[in-house]
Amino acid sequence: MAEIMRVEDREALAAVEDLPVLTAAELDADPHGMFRRYRAAYPVVRHETGGYFVLRHADIERLSTDARMAASETARPELFGVTEGALFDLFKEGMLTANGAVHRRRRSPFSRSFAARTMADLRPHIRRASDELIESWYADGQVEFVDRFATQLPARVIGDLLGLPRADIPSFTELVYAVTRFLSTSILPDEVPESESACQKLRIYVERTLEDRRRTPRDDFLSDFLAKADAAGELSPLEIVFQIVQLIIGGTDTTRVAVVMQLALLLQHREQWDAVCRDPSLIPDAVAEAMRFEPSVASFSRVTTEDIEVSGAVLPARQFVLLSTMSAARDEEAYERPHVFDIRRTDQPRLLPIFGAGAHRCLGEALARIELEESLAALAARIPQLRLDEAPTIRGHSGIRRIDIMRISWQP
Ligand code: HEM
Repeated sequence: MAEIMRVEDREALAAVEDLPVLTAAELDADPHGMFRRYRAAYPVVRHETGGYFVLRHADIERLSTDARMAASETARPELFGVTEGALFDLFKEGMLTANGAVHRRRRSPFSRSFAARTMADLRPHIRRASDELIESWYADGQVEFVDRFATQLPARVIGDLLGLPRADIPSFTELVYAVTRFLSTSILPDEVPESESACQKLRIYVERTLEDRRRTPRDDFLSDFLAKADAAGELSPLEIVFQIVQLIIGGTDTTRVAVVMQLALLLQHREQWDAVCRDPSLIPDAVAEAMRFEPSVASFSRVTTEDIEVSGAVLPARQFVLLSTMSAARDEEAYERPHVFDIRRTDQPRLLPIFGAGAHRCLGEALARIELEESLAALAARIPQLRLDEAPTIRGHSGIRRIDIMRISWQP
């Protein structure tokens, strides 16, 4: 891929005509408001750090499968001056940032095991894990939900899928969240060393786990993947390690934030929470609507390989482009009353944009949806009398978004 322009390359950006430049501060203060204000007049806006946002649903759908929009390979770590080490390898060796045949080679060993039909077998297990977490604090009558449930569930599910010992989950979870920070555009340069160190530790942990499975195969997902990957001989040892690291990273913070936001939104719209408790068949629609209304992932990124016209604006070649699914999810052209949270809406697209589109569409979508549905089902069945004492604040306008705390209580 052609070398990407660095953020400081202002001269090149100056050639990019009259598109508004939005600052991180104003976007962080009111992301929905800012996107709404600009979306009608501008299909594309610029970010002060040099990238571009595509704002409209139809444009994002089209660009997601446009071959001129390439995955960013190692461009992101390079922008931070990271040119070697575990974080760099995550981008160099992983499927998410790979293109063409390399991407297909890295993703295909997982396609079948992550398909909806296979993942459905995990539903009872995920429900049990949710029930167990709830029981661990139910008698207290109140809990800080982010730490004691939402952080635990995705890490436990992915840990169980990989057959990791339960005792490793707390330290493993900490490492995962430290690495994930690097995927958020709000990360500051001085936070990068902590992410690098966590990524290094995670890589070693995965390497050891894989060595263990090679020595003593089990009847589990990891042993199965390893046997097939070794037999096919298409992935290098480093690629094998980093596909697993990427699965772990992709499957935790994204789901954690979504688990929190769906409960918060339902409790903030009490009639809809009560409806879900009375009628669990509403749960899949509730999950979809929460992801539309307050998505845990705000955008996915690409690099333009040439100038691309987007509804009258031009995305210049060799630029970072953020396809803002967060903006698309409230596009007035795509949804009726997009700024209203309504689990009964009938205009939800079959493929939820929040999971991306095209070759890189989320590999873990089926798993994520089951986690979201089963955690909600467990909470609605066990504690319908839930009260929201302190709502979480969700921040961020690109990449994975962040939440703080959420306090709930009930009469046991
Ligand atoms: C609510 C939860 C989730 C959301 C919102 C989400 C969102 C996304 C998005 C938008 C992409 C596409 C990125 C792109 O096109 O550049 C993606 C890719 C990916 N996701 Fe997820 N994800 C979630 C959960 C999960 C889970 C549970 C796993 C794994 C266990 C996972 C693993 C992956 C992987 C491996 C990729 C890369 C796929 C590829 O490049 O071919 N995700 N995800």
